[in-house]
Amino acid sequence: MRVRPGVPDAAIRVLEEAGLESDIGPLDVTGADALLCLLTDRIDEGFLAAARHLRIVANMAVGTDNIDLAAASRLGIAVSNTPDVLTDATADLTFALLLAAARRLAWADRYVRGGGFVGWNPEVGIGLDVTGRTLGIIGAGRIGRAVAERARGFKMDVLLHSRSAGLPLDELLERSDFVSLHVPLSPATRHLIGAAEFARMKRSAVLVNTARGPIVDEAALVRALREGQIAAAGLDVFEHEPALAPGLRDLPQVVLAPHIGSATIATRARMAEVAARNIVAALRGEPIPNRVG
Ligand code: DGY
Repeated sequence: MRVRPGVPDAAIRVLEEAGLESDIGPLDVTGADALLCLLTDRIDEGFLAAARHLRIVANMAVGTDNIDLAAASRLGIAVSNTPDVLTDATADLTFALLLAAARRLAWADRYVRGGGFVGWNPEVGIGLDVTGRTLGIIGAGRIGRAVAERARGFKMDVLLHSRSAGLPLDELLERSDFVSLHVPLSPATRHLIGAAEFARMKRSAVLVNTARGPIVDEAALVRALREGQIAAAGLDVFEHEPALAPGLRDLPQVVLAPHIGSATIATRARMAEVAARNIVAALRGEPIPNRVG
């Protein structure tokens, strides 16, 4: 089986214990019966059709928008993901970005390092309140709910919008001081937040995205921030990752992170283990615990 470089050793241990042979290498599955891949691997129909022996694609991520699920299903190739184990780490980072964007933490760090801090000044570094404000969560899955739990500790009012429950999106956008995205990327959620949505948000609002970049029209986000339609943003994901929309990096009111929502030692190890266990089950002909297609 092929394991992609960067997958933690925890996966290899699970595979070895199950008596399975694996090799770490490029995205080439000639002769391989399983693939343990990353969210940056584009697994499209052409790739799957050429993979004659492949029985499972185990993505080391909860999101599976990098995989053509319909094609995998047509070709009889199982697909699995790694839910649950990354919920808390991703919710924690969501809150870190929310706080950092509200309280201008990235700016403050640059300011001190740049020698700007020459004494306490009541007018410097003024940010936005978090405690007691309204947080709009878009997407009521595991991570959205875990973010809501954290918000309670900050005495926030939590509004929710999902496909099947909660407030209409427009109402959530109009009422929220913070808007946090927790939907999977799909044709229905691509550019869910664009110019029309920014126009509805408060001028003091902060957008946080730890889900997938293309859920936000990034060029429209840059315009909205430049024109003061919203106040700030905390972004862990980008529309054309790893590239940034022109102008984004120049906006001081944006906190940027390199897609690190699940990046803790324990979480990444658990993701690797879960992905490997899905492979073991598939190759043994057992039910695949986290099968998504
Ligand atoms: C995922 O799992 O989909 C995240 O984006 C990375 O952990």
